[in-house]
Amino acid sequence: MSSSIQRIGVFTSGGDAPGMNAAIRAVVRTGIFHNKEVYGIMQGYEGMIEGDVVKLGARSVGNILQRGGTILKTARSEEFKTKEGRKKAYDELRKVGIDALIAIGGDGTFTGLHALYHEFKMPSLCIPGTIDNDIAGTDYTIGFDTATNTAVEAIDKIRDTALSHNRLFFIEVMGRNSGYIALYSGVAGGAGAIIIPESETSFDKVYDLLTAGEITNKRSNLVVIAEGSKIGGANEIARKVAERSSYFDIKVTILGHLQRGGSPTYFDRVLASRMGVAAVEGILAGETDAMVGIRDNKIVFNPFDAVMNRPHDIDHDMLRIAKILSI
Ligand code: F6P
Repeated sequence: MSSSIQRIGVFTSGGDAPGMNAAIRAVVRTGIFHNKEVYGIMQGYEGMIEGDVVKLGARSVGNILQRGGTILKTARSEEFKTKEGRKKAYDELRKVGIDALIAIGGDGTFTGLHALYHEFKMPSLCIPGTIDNDIAGTDYTIGFDTATNTAVEAIDKIRDTALSHNRLFFIEVMGRNSGYIALYSGVAGGAGAIIIPESETSFDKVYDLLTAGEITNKRSNLVVIAEGSKIGGANEIARKVAERSSYFDIKVTILGHLQRGGSPTYFDRVLASRMGVAAVEGILAGETDAMVGIRDNKIVFNPFDAVMNRPHDIDHDMLRIAKILSI
């Protein structure tokens, strides 16, 4: 593969996601396969500004495929949002001779890389890595499948105790402003109701749905709530239901950061491996200022402008399915 690029820098940025290590491994080994040098930049944009860079070999990414988190560590950098910060980062990259960048992260990561590309013409590609699955231009982001499986496992366990005690549980899952984890884990976990920001609802509607269960004698139930819910989080909704009705014995579980950890599923490992190979081969073939995505099981390259700050639309048929199956 002929390209003037000789040294590729790879880094992870934003919230960690299971499968990031598998993507790092794929980038490093594909780079070496094509006779390029690959450097790991530690702590995302923070490490780039500080020149915290390590050369990686095929063996230095051994035994990480199955590990959660990111061996390169990650951070959210305020300094990189400034032009001065980006200039410092660029100067540090040039000191080591890095002449192309591959980032693994979410929307904030893309914004930074897009700016760096426009200011310094550094060839750059992004791989979408976030549990939230909130990126336009790709059906799946790395980490979403693992995080959703973790949520389903938790929901199944909560169901056991909910049934035993005839309790109503409100389970809050992550996703920032996106309802993907809630919708998919809710359907897979058989939730009685799913509350996500993308679907218009009101507290009264949710209350009516739950109390309709009084008539059918449904005393135990599970409600899955996305953290970005527009009608309040699990604690708030639970409190309001308890204020209006003493019918239910109510409990709340907030799954939180445990959804970000753990060994990636086969799906995330394969996705990360495909995207990592595609990113290196793409950048060597001249793709730049773009995000690797997967659409209908095919690898695609989306220009940053087409995906940044765009919502990843929810399939509303999934909501309909959830509703039918929860009667
Ligand atoms: O973007 C991933 C995510 O886990 C979101 O689901 C959540 O809102 C956020 O990160 C939490 O961020 P932090 O780890 O900085 O608290």
